[in-house]
Amino acid sequence: MTDTWLVAGGAGYIGAHVVRSLQAAGIGAVVIDDLSTGSSDRVRVPFVRGDIGNVDLVTDVLRQHEITGVIQLAADKQVAESMTEPLTYYHRNVVNLMQLLTAMARAEVDRLVFSSSAAVYGMVEAALVTEDHPTRPINPYGETKLVGEWLIRDQARATGLRFAALRYFNVAGTAAPELADLGRTNLIPMVFDALDRGEQPVIFGCDYPTPDGTCVRDFIHVEDLADAHVAAIAALDSPGAAQVFNVGCGRGYSVREVIETVAEVAGLSIEPRPSDPRPGDPAMVVADTEHISTALGWRPRHDLREMVRSAWHARSPQLSAAQG
Ligand SMILES: NC(=O)c1ccc[n+]([C@@H]2O[C@H](COP(=O)([O-])OP(=O)(O)OC[C@H]3O[C@@H](n4cnc5c(N)ncnc54)[C@H](O)[C@@H]3O)[C@@H](O)[C@H]2O)c1
Repeated sequence: MTDTWLVAGGAGYIGAHVVRSLQAAGIGAVVIDDLSTGSSDRVRVPFVRGDIGNVDLVTDVLRQHEITGVIQLAADKQVAESMTEPLTYYHRNVVNLMQLLTAMARAEVDRLVFSSSAAVYGMVEAALVTEDHPTRPINPYGETKLVGEWLIRDQARATGLRFAALRYFNVAGTAAPELADLGRTNLIPMVFDALDRGEQPVIFGCDYPTPDGTCVRDFIHVEDLADAHVAAIAALDSPGAAQVFNVGCGRGYSVREVIETVAEVAGLSIEPRPSDPRPGDPAMVVADTEHISTALGWRPRHDLREMVRSAWHARSPQLSAAQG
């Protein structure tokens, strides 16, 4: 019988891509999502509308669909909002995770892939961030992801749960326009938004100790990221697989390079406006991806141009078709 995984948050941007990768790998998927930010239009597999914090509901879904394991993406993800609403973030990202783990224990489901984040590292000083870099998150969002990792690790020690925590870097691009990121807080959508308003995009800080003076980040195409979940699932077949993995490209792109790539893809002339650096923005955050490539055999296939191109086409299909 085919394995079936429960994708919690599968109506969201990344979750919908994860479902697609599972299907491509011949793995069944069921989605649970409360549609707080997701859209049911993205879901083409059995769908339960509900909150992962509802232990009875999740236990029933796990039993009814004979679920093998859970991919947990259902969380709130806005750093700025987490600073003003820490209680909401601890509730939605930590308490709900406890509830989900309770339901999994009740239904005897013992495999979990968890969406963590590079935000667990906080102020990064190393050129490349390995998984054993100190974790000192600088906002409640990053803290909730780190506490989530601890919670899962402790539950794994106590019960034999097998897990992989994937620390995503900056996620971008889309496999199809209907799966595109609806959030507006990442760099690429923010550049698009500025252009839509007829404004030039802003660069926060141009005097960082980086090759062109602007911040450097590691961008990962959402399709590559989704495939990393399938690789992680396969690794959980081996005992002692509990591990934490960086998921990035292992290559940095500067903010200026990203904006130049948008200009090239969109066929526009863009003159970004320099502004003061934002407090708490490290100069460079780039993943060391040695661990995931060695342990899971996973490597990214898409570059920045492909991330920008797919996101741009998703945003303006008619415009982009006209541009070829
Ligand atoms: N997008 C990024 O750049 C990024 C980077 C690092 C980590 N992450 C993590 O990846 C995960 C997915 O992010 P995304 O970009 O797809 O966000 P998203 O908002 O598009 O998806 C989250 C989904 O979870 C659902 N959800 C939230 N709380 C829920 C609950 N209590 N019960 C049921 N469903 C619930 C939402 O409706 C949404 O469909 C999140 O955990 C996020 O923290 C994202």
